[in-house]
Amino acid sequence: MKKELIALALESSCDETSVAVVKNGREVLSNIISSQIDLHKKFGGVVPEVASRKHLENISYVIDEGLEKANVTFKDIDIIGVTYGPGLAGALLVGLSTAKALAYSLNIPLIGVNHIEGHIYSNFIEYKELEPPFLSLVVSGGHTHLVYMKDYGEYEVLGKTRDDAAGEAFDKVARAIGLGYPGGPLIDKLSKQGNKDAIPFPRTYLENDSLDFSFSGLKSAVLNYLNNCKMKDIPIVDEDVAASFQQAVIDVLVDKTIKAAQRLDVKTIAIAGGVAANTGLRELLHQRAKGEGFKLMIPSMSLCTDNAAMIGCTAYYNYLNGYVADMHLNAVPNLKIGEKYKRV
Ligand code: KG4
Ligand code: ZN
Repeated sequence: MKKELIALALESSCDETSVAVVKNGREVLSNIISSQIDLHKKFGGVVPEVASRKHLENISYVIDEGLEKANVTFKDIDIIGVTYGPGLAGALLVGLSTAKALAYSLNIPLIGVNHIEGHIYSNFIEYKELEPPFLSLVVSGGHTHLVYMKDYGEYEVLGKTRDDAAGEAFDKVARAIGLGYPGGPLIDKLSKQGNKDAIPFPRTYLENDSLDFSFSGLKSAVLNYLNNCKMKDIPIVDEDVAASFQQAVIDVLVDKTIKAAQRLDVKTIAIAGGVAANTGLRELLHQRAKGEGFKLMIPSMSLCTDNAAMIGCTAYYNYLNGYVADMHLNAVPNLKIGEKYKRV
């Protein structure tokens, strides 16, 4: 094998068109992220049809920019990595069909990547020395998972949400207090001016030994609180609602993560996904992990939210493990962690 392996990676599973060039899995030569947030803002959330159309409009330009920024051409690319699930079907298909066309015309391997696994791999970019096994908390707009990463490509899901994902709860509560989309960063910012102990929102732990999550009860509790205040003419302090809600989410996330790490007897915890950008979560997990003797890995903000660099990193390791796809690879909107496709 060549000493250098350069991956061109495409990510289009939701509302970011992203293209990255990644060398040997962990060296990011470029990571271009074209966000559609402004386009979806006026609808209060991602509109799937609008997202796919915008990906289609953008993707060639983003690829050109990715190559240019990395100072490479198509001739330098060894593999194409692409997110094929989970995500919005139409959005995924834009990245996937572009990736297939590139792999076919350049005659190089096509590597399918699971978006959630991609989030976990963002830690390998940030921490060059990181190796499995470790525990990962993946918290994003669509997913909340506690995953034991045993080895590259080998995962055990220890717990997941039974209803809303953590990011989804942030987005819905933000909408209820009129903050706009996406809600997570706005609630995070507003929380800094609020009192996290002002309103005793519930923490849902489920059964005693469960590592699953549930956030829909908390979301309803916030909505009930707001309605109740409005009916009784009690003034609502948005900052306190945001801070108290955020604290209720992160208390449960942190408690369960520490419990899982103790149960597994691992040394390292790595967090990932859009909600991992939350400053409250980062701070509390940092404190608790330190107190309990765990090493904590947190990717920088831009690697937490959707990006193609993490897809390029995962594609590299999938390739080393022999996971080359053929032209039948299809988008899988509900793809599970650890689910594999037929290798060529
Ligand atoms: O990973 P991501 O970019 O996309 C998905 O794969 O879902 O995550 C987006 C989610 C959104 O729900 C957004 O509100 C949330 O991550 N998010 C945050 C923060 N930044 C993004 N949630 C809480 N605090 C933040 N600072
Ligand atoms: Zn994501």
